[in-house]
Amino acid sequence: MSRKKQIKLGAFLQGVGGSISGWRHPDAITDASVNFELYKHWTQKAESGKFDFAFIADGLYITEKSIPHYLNRFEPITILSALAAVSSKIGLVGTLSTSYSEPFTVARQFASLDTISGGRAGWNVVTSPLEGSALNFGKTEQQHPSHPERYRIANEYLEVTNGLWDSWEDDAFVRDKASGVFFDPSKLHTLDHKGNYFSVKGPLNIARSKQGQPVIFQAGSSEDGRNFAAKVANAIFTSQETIEEAKLYYDDVKGRAKALGRHPDEIVILPGIGPIIGSTHEEAERKYEEAASLVSIDKALDFLGRFFEHHDFSQYPLDEPFPDLGDLGRNSFRSTTDKIKNSAKEEGLTLRQAAQRAATPKPTFIGTPEEVADKLQAWFEAGAADGFIIASSIPSGLEEFVDHVVPILQKRGLFRDEYEADTLRGNLGVPVPENRYTVERQQAVSQG
Ligand SMILES: Cc1cc2nc3c(=O)[nH]c(=O)nc-3n(C[C@H](O)[C@H](O)[C@H](O)COP(=O)(O)O)c2cc1C
Repeated sequence: MSRKKQIKLGAFLQGVGGSISGWRHPDAITDASVNFELYKHWTQKAESGKFDFAFIADGLYITEKSIPHYLNRFEPITILSALAAVSSKIGLVGTLSTSYSEPFTVARQFASLDTISGGRAGWNVVTSPLEGSALNFGKTEQQHPSHPERYRIANEYLEVTNGLWDSWEDDAFVRDKASGVFFDPSKLHTLDHKGNYFSVKGPLNIARSKQGQPVIFQAGSSEDGRNFAAKVANAIFTSQETIEEAKLYYDDVKGRAKALGRHPDEIVILPGIGPIIGSTHEEAERKYEEAASLVSIDKALDFLGRFFEHHDFSQYPLDEPFPDLGDLGRNSFRSTTDKIKNSAKEEGLTLRQAAQRAATPKPTFIGTPEEVADKLQAWFEAGAADGFIIASSIPSGLEEFVDHVVPILQKRGLFRDEYEADTLRGNLGVPVPENRYTVERQQAVSQG
Protein backbone atom coordinates (compact mmCIF):
# COMPACT_ATOMS: atom_id res chain seq x y z
CA MET A 1 0.00 0.00 0.00
CA SER A 2 1.44 3.36 -0.90
CA ARG A 3 2.07 5.81 1.91
CA LYS A 4 -0.18 8.84 2.16
CA LYS A 5 1.68 11.89 0.94
CA GLN A 6 2.74 14.13 3.81
CA ILE A 7 4.20 17.60 4.25
CA LYS A 8 8.01 17.94 4.12
CA LEU A 9 9.74 20.41 6.42
CA GLY A 10 13.11 22.13 6.43
CA ALA A 11 14.63 24.47 9.03
CA PHE A 12 16.45 27.52 7.68
CA LEU A 13 19.24 28.07 10.24
CA GLN A 14 20.29 31.65 9.98
CA GLY A 15 22.18 32.92 13.06
CA VAL A 16 20.89 36.36 14.01
CA GLY A 17 18.29 36.12 11.25
CA GLY A 18 17.61 37.05 7.67
CA SER A 19 16.43 40.56 8.52
CA ILE A 20 18.53 43.65 8.85
CA SER A 21 17.81 44.29 12.53
CA GLY A 22 16.88 40.84 13.83
CA TRP A 23 19.97 40.82 16.03
CA ARG A 24 18.47 43.67 18.11
CA HIS A 25 15.44 41.60 19.13
CA PRO A 26 15.30 41.29 22.94
CA ASP A 27 15.56 37.48 22.70
CA ALA A 28 18.31 37.40 20.05
CA ILE A 29 21.69 35.92 20.90
CA THR A 30 23.92 38.50 19.26
CA ASP A 31 26.76 36.17 18.21
CA ALA A 32 24.27 33.55 16.93
CA SER A 33 25.71 33.49 13.39
CA VAL A 34 29.03 32.09 14.63
CA ASN A 35 27.75 30.21 17.66
CA PHE A 36 28.16 26.49 17.04
CA GLU A 37 26.33 25.45 20.22
CA LEU A 38 23.27 27.31 19.00
CA TYR A 39 23.36 25.71 15.53
CA LYS A 40 23.72 22.35 17.24
CA HIS A 41 20.74 23.12 19.48
CA TRP A 42 18.57 24.21 16.54
CA THR A 43 19.53 21.16 14.48
CA GLN A 44 18.70 18.82 17.33
CA LYS A 45 15.45 20.68 17.99
CA ALA A 46 14.46 20.35 14.32
CA GLU A 47 15.42 16.67 14.44
CA SER A 48 13.24 16.17 17.55
CA GLY A 49 10.43 17.70 15.44
CA LYS A 50 11.20 15.13 12.66
CA PHE A 51 12.15 17.82 10.15
CA ASP A 52 13.48 16.54 6.84
CA PHE A 53 16.49 18.83 6.85
CA ALA A 54 18.36 21.81 8.24
CA PHE A 55 19.57 24.36 5.71
CA ILE A 56 22.54 26.74 5.67
CA ALA A 57 22.40 29.48 3.02
CA ASP A 58 25.42 31.32 1.64
CA GLY A 59 26.73 34.25 -0.38
CA LEU A 60 30.20 35.29 -1.49
CA TYR A 61 30.39 39.04 -1.17
CA ILE A 62 29.70 41.51 1.61
CA THR A 63 29.88 45.24 2.09
CA GLU A 64 29.36 47.27 5.25
CA LYS A 65 25.69 47.52 4.22
CA SER A 66 25.05 43.76 4.14
CA ILE A 67 22.66 42.38 6.73
CA PRO A 68 24.41 41.54 10.02
CA HIS A 69 24.11 37.74 9.60
CA TYR A 70 26.00 37.94 6.30
CA LEU A 71 28.92 39.83 7.85
CA ASN A 72 30.18 37.05 10.08
CA ARG A 73 28.86 33.54 9.48
CA PHE A 74 29.88 29.91 8.95
CA GLU A 75 30.84 28.42 5.60
CA PRO A 76 28.10 25.82 4.88
CA ILE A 77 30.11 22.63 4.27
CA THR A 78 32.18 23.23 7.40
CA ILE A 79 29.24 23.79 9.76
CA LEU A 80 27.22 20.97 8.18
CA SER A 81 30.10 18.53 8.70
CA ALA A 82 30.16 19.46 12.39
CA LEU A 83 26.36 19.13 12.62
CA ALA A 84 26.56 15.69 10.99
CA ALA A 85 28.41 14.46 14.07
CA VAL A 86 25.71 15.63 16.50
CA SER A 87 22.62 14.44 14.60
CA SER A 88 21.52 11.14 13.10
CA LYS A 89 18.39 11.44 10.95
CA ILE A 90 17.95 15.01 9.81
CA GLY A 91 19.17 16.04 6.34
CA LEU A 92 21.98 18.59 6.09
CA VAL A 93 21.65 20.99 3.17
CA GLY A 94 24.00 23.81 2.21
CA THR A 95 24.44 26.37 -0.53
CA LEU A 96 27.42 26.36 -2.85
CA SER A 97 27.84 28.49 -5.96
CA THR A 98 28.49 27.07 -9.42
CA SER A 99 29.83 30.43 -10.62
CA TYR A 100 32.78 30.60 -8.22
CA SER A 101 33.97 27.06 -7.53
CA GLU A 102 35.34 24.01 -9.31
CA PRO A 103 33.10 20.98 -9.84
CA PHE A 104 35.78 18.48 -8.86
CA THR A 105 36.23 20.12 -5.44
CA VAL A 106 32.52 20.57 -4.85
CA ALA A 107 31.63 17.00 -5.90
CA ARG A 108 34.23 15.79 -3.38
CA GLN A 109 33.04 18.05 -0.58
CA PHE A 110 29.39 17.05 -0.88
CA ALA A 111 30.23 13.36 -1.39
CA SER A 112 32.33 13.54 1.78
CA LEU A 113 29.54 15.24 3.74
CA ASP A 114 27.13 12.66 2.37
CA THR A 115 29.29 9.77 3.59
CA ILE A 116 30.16 11.39 6.95
CA SER A 117 26.44 11.89 7.61
CA GLY A 118 25.35 8.45 6.40
CA GLY A 119 23.47 9.72 3.33
CA ARG A 120 21.96 12.96 4.63
CA ALA A 121 23.62 15.64 2.47
CA GLY A 122 21.93 18.11 0.15
CA TRP A 123 23.41 20.80 -2.09
CA ASN A 124 21.51 24.01 -2.81
CA VAL A 125 22.93 24.93 -6.20
CA VAL A 126 23.05 28.70 -6.66
CA THR A 127 24.57 30.76 -9.45
CA SER A 128 25.61 33.75 -7.26
CA PRO A 129 23.62 36.87 -8.02
CA LEU A 130 26.07 39.44 -6.62
CA GLU A 131 28.49 40.98 -9.13
CA GLY A 132 30.90 41.78 -6.31
CA SER A 133 31.54 38.05 -5.83
CA ALA A 134 33.85 38.32 -8.86
CA LEU A 135 36.16 40.59 -6.87
CA ASN A 136 36.85 37.78 -4.40
CA PHE A 137 37.78 35.31 -7.13
CA GLY A 138 40.42 37.09 -9.20
CA LYS A 139 37.96 38.81 -11.57
CA THR A 140 36.45 42.24 -12.11
CA GLU A 141 32.76 42.96 -11.58
CA GLN A 142 32.41 43.25 -15.36
CA GLN A 143 33.59 39.66 -15.62
CA HIS A 144 30.75 38.41 -13.41
CA PRO A 145 28.94 36.12 -15.87
CA SER A 146 25.57 37.38 -17.13
CA HIS A 147 22.37 35.84 -15.74
CA PRO A 148 21.82 33.45 -18.72
CA GLU A 149 25.47 32.51 -18.85
CA ARG A 150 25.49 31.68 -15.14
CA TYR A 151 22.77 29.14 -15.85
CA ARG A 152 24.65 27.71 -18.86
CA ILE A 153 27.67 27.25 -16.57
CA ALA A 154 25.47 25.69 -13.89
CA ASN A 155 24.00 23.20 -16.39
CA GLU A 156 27.42 21.97 -17.45
CA TYR A 157 28.62 22.03 -13.85
CA LEU A 158 25.89 19.58 -12.81
CA GLU A 159 26.73 17.29 -15.73
CA VAL A 160 30.25 17.15 -14.33
CA THR A 161 29.36 16.62 -10.67
CA ASN A 162 26.74 14.00 -11.52
CA GLY A 163 29.31 12.26 -13.71
CA LEU A 164 31.96 12.37 -11.01
CA TRP A 165 29.59 10.94 -8.43
CA ASP A 166 29.27 7.85 -10.65
CA SER A 167 33.05 7.28 -10.72
CA TRP A 168 32.74 4.20 -8.54
CA GLU A 169 30.00 1.59 -8.88
CA ASP A 170 28.50 0.64 -5.54
CA ASP A 171 30.31 -2.70 -5.25
CA ALA A 172 33.62 -1.46 -6.68
CA PHE A 173 35.55 -1.74 -3.41
CA VAL A 174 36.33 -5.41 -2.81
CA ARG A 175 38.80 -4.83 0.06
CA ASP A 176 39.86 -8.50 0.17
CA LYS A 177 42.98 -8.82 2.31
CA ALA A 178 43.52 -12.48 1.39
CA SER A 179 43.67 -11.92 -2.38
CA GLY A 180 45.10 -8.40 -2.16
CA VAL A 181 42.27 -6.99 -4.28
CA PHE A 182 41.27 -3.55 -2.98
CA PHE A 183 38.91 -2.66 -5.81
CA ASP A 184 37.53 -4.05 -9.05
CA PRO A 185 39.02 -1.91 -11.89
CA SER A 186 36.05 -2.65 -14.18
CA LYS A 187 33.87 -0.73 -11.71
CA LEU A 188 35.98 2.41 -11.71
CA HIS A 189 35.07 4.99 -14.39
CA THR A 190 36.93 8.04 -15.66
CA LEU A 191 34.66 10.87 -16.74
CA ASP A 192 36.94 12.64 -19.24
CA HIS A 193 34.67 15.68 -19.48
CA LYS A 194 35.65 18.40 -21.94
CA GLY A 195 33.01 21.10 -22.33
CA ASN A 196 32.60 24.83 -22.89
CA TYR A 197 33.38 25.77 -19.31
CA PHE A 198 34.99 22.79 -17.64
CA SER A 199 37.60 20.21 -18.38
CA VAL A 200 37.60 17.47 -15.76
CA LYS A 201 39.21 14.09 -16.15
CA GLY A 202 38.17 12.27 -12.97
CA PRO A 203 37.61 9.83 -11.48
CA LEU A 204 36.46 11.24 -8.16
CA ASN A 205 38.44 10.05 -5.16
CA ILE A 206 35.43 9.10 -3.04
CA ALA A 207 32.68 6.53 -3.65
CA ARG A 208 28.92 7.00 -3.72
CA SER A 209 27.12 7.31 -0.39
CA LYS A 210 24.26 5.35 1.05
CA GLN A 211 21.79 7.60 -0.83
CA GLY A 212 23.74 7.40 -4.10
CA GLN A 213 24.44 11.09 -4.36
CA PRO A 214 23.61 14.27 -2.47
CA VAL A 215 20.10 15.64 -2.94
CA ILE A 216 20.08 18.57 -5.37
CA PHE A 217 18.21 21.66 -4.18
CA GLN A 218 17.66 24.74 -6.33
CA ALA A 219 15.74 28.02 -6.06
CA GLY A 220 15.20 28.98 -9.68
CA SER A 221 12.66 31.70 -10.12
CA SER A 222 13.39 33.38 -13.49
CA GLU A 223 12.80 31.56 -16.80
CA ASP A 224 16.35 30.21 -16.89
CA GLY A 225 16.21 29.44 -13.20
CA ARG A 226 12.95 27.49 -13.47
CA ASN A 227 14.20 25.48 -16.45
CA PHE A 228 17.38 24.63 -14.60
CA ALA A 229 15.52 23.63 -11.44
CA ALA A 230 13.05 21.53 -13.43
CA LYS A 231 15.95 19.71 -15.08
CA VAL A 232 18.32 19.05 -12.17
CA ALA A 233 16.61 19.54 -8.83
CA ASN A 234 15.19 16.98 -6.43
CA ALA A 235 13.88 19.77 -4.19
CA ILE A 236 13.10 23.40 -5.00
CA PHE A 237 12.95 26.45 -2.73
CA THR A 238 10.73 29.30 -3.71
CA SER A 239 9.44 32.51 -2.25
CA GLN A 240 5.67 32.99 -2.70
CA GLU A 241 3.31 35.30 -0.89
CA THR A 242 -0.10 33.89 -1.75
CA ILE A 243 -1.54 30.44 -2.29
CA GLU A 244 -2.54 31.45 -5.84
CA GLU A 245 0.99 32.55 -6.77
CA ALA A 246 2.45 29.48 -5.13
CA LYS A 247 0.13 27.20 -7.09
CA LEU A 248 1.04 28.89 -10.37
CA TYR A 249 4.74 28.42 -9.62
CA TYR A 250 4.20 24.82 -8.54
CA ASP A 251 2.25 23.86 -11.64
CA ASP A 252 4.66 25.71 -13.90
CA VAL A 253 7.81 24.06 -12.56
CA LYS A 254 6.27 20.59 -12.31
CA GLY A 255 5.00 21.04 -15.88
CA ARG A 256 8.50 21.92 -17.05
CA ALA A 257 9.90 18.85 -15.28
CA LYS A 258 7.28 16.64 -16.92
CA ALA A 259 8.11 18.06 -20.34
CA LEU A 260 11.71 17.04 -19.68
CA GLY A 261 10.61 13.45 -19.05
CA ARG A 262 10.74 13.59 -15.26
CA HIS A 263 8.01 12.39 -12.92
CA PRO A 264 6.62 15.50 -11.17
CA ASP A 265 6.26 13.61 -7.86
CA GLU A 266 10.01 13.13 -7.75
CA ILE A 267 10.48 16.86 -7.18
CA VAL A 268 9.61 18.43 -3.85
CA ILE A 269 8.59 22.10 -3.98
CA LEU A 270 9.17 24.01 -0.76
CA PRO A 271 8.13 27.65 -0.35
CA GLY A 272 10.21 29.49 2.23
CA ILE A 273 7.98 30.90 4.96
CA GLY A 274 8.61 32.96 8.08
CA PRO A 275 5.81 32.01 10.45
CA ILE A 276 5.10 34.04 13.57
CA ILE A 277 3.13 32.16 16.19
CA GLY A 278 1.29 33.48 19.22
CA SER A 279 -1.05 31.99 21.81
CA THR A 280 -3.65 34.33 20.31
CA HIS A 281 -3.76 35.96 16.88
CA GLU A 282 -3.24 39.36 18.53
CA GLU A 283 -0.13 38.14 20.30
CA ALA A 284 1.34 36.96 16.99
CA GLU A 285 0.56 40.37 15.42
CA ARG A 286 2.28 42.08 18.36
CA LYS A 287 5.35 39.90 17.85
CA TYR A 288 5.48 40.96 14.21
CA GLU A 289 5.11 44.66 15.09
CA GLU A 290 7.88 44.33 17.67
CA ALA A 291 10.27 42.76 15.12
CA ALA A 292 9.33 45.28 12.39
CA SER A 293 9.82 48.27 14.71
CA LEU A 294 13.50 47.37 15.12
CA VAL A 295 14.22 48.31 11.49
CA SER A 296 14.96 52.00 10.84
CA ILE A 297 14.12 53.47 7.43
CA ASP A 298 17.85 54.00 6.71
CA LYS A 299 18.51 50.29 7.28
CA ALA A 300 15.50 49.38 5.15
CA LEU A 301 16.93 51.49 2.28
CA ASP A 302 20.30 49.73 2.62
CA PHE A 303 18.51 46.39 2.53
CA LEU A 304 16.67 47.36 -0.64
CA GLY A 305 19.93 48.61 -2.19
CA ARG A 306 21.56 45.20 -1.92
CA PHE A 307 19.19 43.77 -4.54
CA PHE A 308 19.95 46.69 -6.89
CA GLU A 309 23.73 46.47 -7.15
CA HIS A 310 24.12 48.35 -3.83
CA HIS A 311 22.32 51.35 -5.25
CA ASP A 312 22.11 54.33 -2.87
CA PHE A 313 18.39 54.87 -2.28
CA SER A 314 18.97 57.67 0.27
CA GLN A 315 19.26 60.11 -2.68
CA TYR A 316 15.49 59.90 -3.39
CA PRO A 317 12.57 61.51 -1.52
CA LEU A 318 11.05 58.87 0.76
CA ASP A 319 7.40 59.69 0.27
CA GLU A 320 7.36 59.99 -3.52
CA PRO A 321 6.73 57.15 -5.98
CA PHE A 322 9.35 54.40 -6.13
CA PRO A 323 12.07 55.66 -8.54
CA ASP A 324 12.44 54.41 -12.09
CA LEU A 325 15.59 52.28 -12.04
CA GLY A 326 15.63 50.97 -15.60
CA ASP A 327 17.37 47.61 -15.76
CA LEU A 328 19.34 48.08 -12.56
CA GLY A 329 19.59 44.77 -10.69
CA ARG A 330 18.37 42.64 -13.60
CA ASN A 331 21.68 40.86 -13.94
CA SER A 332 21.81 39.89 -10.29
CA PHE A 333 18.61 39.29 -8.30
CA ARG A 334 16.44 39.31 -11.42
CA SER A 335 13.25 37.80 -10.09
CA THR A 336 13.40 39.71 -6.80
CA THR A 337 14.09 43.09 -8.41
CA ASP A 338 11.37 42.53 -11.01
CA LYS A 339 8.92 41.75 -8.21
CA ILE A 340 9.85 44.85 -6.18
CA LYS A 341 9.60 47.11 -9.24
CA ASN A 342 6.34 45.60 -10.46
CA SER A 343 4.52 45.72 -7.14
CA ALA A 344 5.71 49.30 -6.54
CA LYS A 345 4.29 50.28 -9.93
CA GLU A 346 1.05 48.31 -9.72
CA GLU A 347 0.23 49.36 -6.16
CA GLY A 348 1.63 52.90 -6.45
CA LEU A 349 4.04 52.43 -3.54
CA THR A 350 6.33 55.19 -2.32
CA LEU A 351 10.01 54.47 -1.78
CA ARG A 352 9.41 54.29 2.00
CA GLN A 353 6.61 51.73 1.56
CA ALA A 354 8.62 49.60 -0.88
CA ALA A 355 11.67 49.63 1.42
CA GLN A 356 9.63 48.72 4.51
CA ARG A 357 7.87 45.95 2.64
CA ALA A 358 11.19 44.50 1.43
CA ALA A 359 12.92 44.76 4.81
CA THR A 360 10.06 43.70 7.11
CA PRO A 361 7.53 41.77 5.05
CA LYS A 362 4.48 40.73 7.04
CA PRO A 363 4.44 36.94 7.05
CA THR A 364 1.60 35.14 5.33
CA PHE A 365 1.72 32.52 8.08
CA ILE A 366 0.91 34.45 11.24
CA GLY A 367 -1.41 33.59 14.11
CA THR A 368 -2.15 30.81 16.56
CA PRO A 369 -0.61 27.38 16.00
CA GLU A 370 -4.00 26.19 14.65
CA GLU A 371 -4.25 29.12 12.24
CA VAL A 372 -0.73 28.48 10.94
CA ALA A 373 -1.39 24.73 10.66
CA ASP A 374 -4.66 25.43 8.79
CA LYS A 375 -2.83 27.56 6.25
CA LEU A 376 -0.03 25.04 5.77
CA GLN A 377 -2.66 22.36 5.22
CA ALA A 378 -4.54 24.56 2.73
CA TRP A 379 -1.40 25.24 0.65
CA PHE A 380 -0.39 21.58 0.74
CA GLU A 381 -3.84 20.26 -0.17
CA ALA A 382 -4.31 22.84 -2.92
CA GLY A 383 -1.17 21.58 -4.65
CA ALA A 384 0.68 24.83 -4.01
CA ALA A 385 3.49 23.17 -1.99
CA ASP A 386 4.90 19.76 -1.10
CA GLY A 387 6.28 21.20 2.11
CA PHE A 388 7.90 24.29 3.53
CA ILE A 389 11.21 25.64 4.66
CA ILE A 390 10.78 27.49 7.92
CA ALA A 391 12.76 30.72 8.15
CA SER A 392 11.35 32.48 11.15
CA SER A 393 12.10 36.16 11.56
CA ILE A 394 12.07 35.99 15.36
CA PRO A 395 14.61 34.13 17.51
CA SER A 396 12.18 31.66 19.12
CA GLY A 397 10.36 30.96 15.83
CA LEU A 398 11.77 27.52 15.05
CA GLU A 399 11.23 26.22 18.57
CA GLU A 400 7.67 27.51 18.71
CA PHE A 401 6.96 25.88 15.37
CA VAL A 402 8.37 22.52 16.52
CA ASP A 403 6.60 22.64 19.89
CA HIS A 404 3.21 23.95 18.81
CA VAL A 405 2.59 23.52 15.06
CA VAL A 406 4.26 20.16 14.36
CA PRO A 407 2.04 18.27 16.90
CA ILE A 408 -1.08 19.66 15.18
CA LEU A 409 0.15 18.56 11.76
CA GLN A 410 0.99 15.13 13.20
CA LYS A 411 -2.43 14.79 14.79
CA ARG A 412 -4.02 15.57 11.43
CA GLY A 413 -1.89 12.91 9.74
CA LEU A 414 -0.22 15.59 7.64
CA PHE A 415 3.29 15.10 9.02
CA ARG A 416 5.34 12.10 10.11
CA ASP A 417 5.47 10.88 13.73
CA GLU A 418 8.76 9.10 13.00
CA TYR A 419 11.38 9.31 10.28
CA GLU A 420 10.67 6.85 7.47
CA ALA A 421 14.35 6.50 6.62
CA ASP A 422 17.80 7.51 7.75
CA THR A 423 18.77 9.16 4.46
CA LEU A 424 17.58 12.51 3.16
CA ARG A 425 16.36 10.95 -0.10
CA GLY A 426 14.44 8.34 1.88
CA ASN A 427 12.64 10.95 3.98
CA LEU A 428 11.95 13.36 1.14
CA GLY A 429 10.70 10.47 -0.99
CA VAL A 430 12.99 11.28 -3.92
CA PRO A 431 14.60 8.36 -5.75
CA VAL A 432 18.19 7.19 -5.37
CA PRO A 433 19.81 7.74 -8.78
CA GLU A 434 21.30 4.54 -10.08
CA ASN A 435 24.93 4.53 -11.11
CA ARG A 436 24.88 5.04 -14.91
CA TYR A 437 27.56 2.42 -15.53
CA THR A 438 25.77 -0.18 -13.43
CA VAL A 439 22.62 0.51 -15.46
CA GLU A 440 24.58 0.11 -18.72
CA ARG A 441 26.08 -3.14 -17.47
CA GLN A 442 22.65 -4.49 -16.49
CA GLN A 443 21.19 -3.48 -19.85
CA ALA A 444 24.05 -5.20 -21.68
CA VAL A 445 23.45 -8.38 -19.66
CA SER A 446 19.68 -8.36 -20.24
CA GLN A 447 20.20 -7.85 -23.98
CA GLY A 448 22.32 -10.98 -23.93
C1 LIG B 1 14.48 29.33 0.71
C2 LIG B 1 15.45 30.02 -0.20
C3 LIG B 1 16.82 29.91 0.04
C4 LIG B 1 17.75 30.56 -0.75
N1 LIG B 1 19.08 30.45 -0.47
C5 LIG B 1 20.00 31.14 -1.21
C6 LIG B 1 21.38 31.10 -0.90
O1 LIG B 1 21.79 30.44 0.04
N2 LIG B 1 22.23 31.85 -1.65
C7 LIG B 1 21.80 32.60 -2.72
O2 LIG B 1 22.62 33.24 -3.38
N3 LIG B 1 20.50 32.63 -3.03
C8 LIG B 1 19.60 31.93 -2.30
N4 LIG B 1 18.26 31.99 -2.60
C9 LIG B 1 17.86 32.91 -3.63
C10 LIG B 1 17.69 32.27 -4.93
O3 LIG B 1 18.89 31.65 -5.31
C11 LIG B 1 17.30 33.41 -5.80
O4 LIG B 1 15.93 33.51 -5.74
C12 LIG B 1 17.90 33.27 -7.14
O5 LIG B 1 18.30 34.54 -7.51
C13 LIG B 1 17.03 32.56 -8.14
O6 LIG B 1 16.48 33.45 -8.99
P1 LIG B 1 16.82 33.54 -10.53
O7 LIG B 1 16.10 32.41 -11.19
O8 LIG B 1 16.34 34.90 -10.85
O9 LIG B 1 18.32 33.39 -10.70
C14 LIG B 1 17.31 31.34 -1.83
C15 LIG B 1 15.93 31.45 -2.10
C16 LIG B 1 15.00 30.80 -1.31
C17 LIG B 1 13.55 30.94 -1.62
